[in-house]
Amino acid sequence: MDINSASLELAQKGFLDLEIDPQLDLFAEIEKLKKEKNAILLAHYYQENDIQDVADFIGDSLGLAQKAQNTSADLIVFAGVHFMAETAKILNPTKKVVLPDLLAGCSLADSAPAPLFKAFKDKHPDHLVVSYINCTADIKALSDIICTSSNAEKIIESIPVDQPIIFAPDKNLGAFLNKKTGRNMLLWNGACMVHEIFSLEKITKLKVRHPHAKLIAHPECEEPILRVSDYVGSTTQLLKYAVQDDAHSYIVATETGILHQMQKSAPHKTFIPAPPNNQCACNDCPHMKRNTLEKIYLCMKHELPEITLPEDLRMAAQKPMDRMMEISRAAGLIG
Ligand code: 13P
Ligand code: SF4
Repeated sequence: MDINSASLELAQKGFLDLEIDPQLDLFAEIEKLKKEKNAILLAHYYQENDIQDVADFIGDSLGLAQKAQNTSADLIVFAGVHFMAETAKILNPTKKVVLPDLLAGCSLADSAPAPLFKAFKDKHPDHLVVSYINCTADIKALSDIICTSSNAEKIIESIPVDQPIIFAPDKNLGAFLNKKTGRNMLLWNGACMVHEIFSLEKITKLKVRHPHAKLIAHPECEEPILRVSDYVGSTTQLLKYAVQDDAHSYIVATETGILHQMQKSAPHKTFIPAPPNNQCACNDCPHMKRNTLEKIYLCMKHELPEITLPEDLRMAAQKPMDRMMEISRAAGLIG
């Protein structure tokens, strides 16, 4: 990741050293800056409620990538984590892409350091590499096709059955896909710190207390949780399912941010966050939650920290992203 020094300095300060007038109406200021700068504010479902409410578009990784690729805005403000903003830059390089806090990383992306992954890949030269979008540009550049949680099954199904595959970096999503597609993909040993924290024991107890509640889970969760889930899908798919399904209550095994849109879209239903295996709030992603309204305002005002990439790396990372978009389009998953 190439960070210019001004961006790095501001990120290290976390912008918090800069004064913000406490009287300032941040919602109004952000709207003003959007118009002034022809900016679009994209937010992932795991962002805090206020950020979701001021965003122009809220989506899962596939929806956000598509929106970033097709926008005519000059400035893309990404309320998400680093790999998402980086993906926006890969797909739409002439736009300025800013991330409110450069330190908003991802434990899953961190679990695949490029040099180690390259050595692993080199040991299996006959394998095709499919990587989950939650990875760095360096890993994308080492991959043949990228997938997200909403298109992963279709991506794997598009590959001839006799073609050996390496799947990285999420071993839980990989194992779920192996089970679903009957493949035997070689899995990189990475995982998400948030989705690995759910307690099957506590969920089972919760189900006893709420016998009619359905368990819905993100495929980054571990196999014992997925095995007992009524529905498994990406954040957008979980939201759609919860709204369209005819049950009245749901135990939701993913980051808690998604509950905001679920509750807004189906106010008469009950959504219960799946409990983590201790008393912490570890089903809140500490990276996603680094973003705040204040940081978004400052980031839009100063147009920093900016995401930049060396052009050769960007082009190499774009190739497997383009492949993902082509397969998704052919499968009717995107327009
Ligand atoms: P999706 O929103 O694509 O399902 O991904 C979830 C995630 O882990 C983002 O970090
Ligand atoms: Fe990464 Fe997990 Fe946070 Fe998603 S929820 S950004 S996969 S650490």
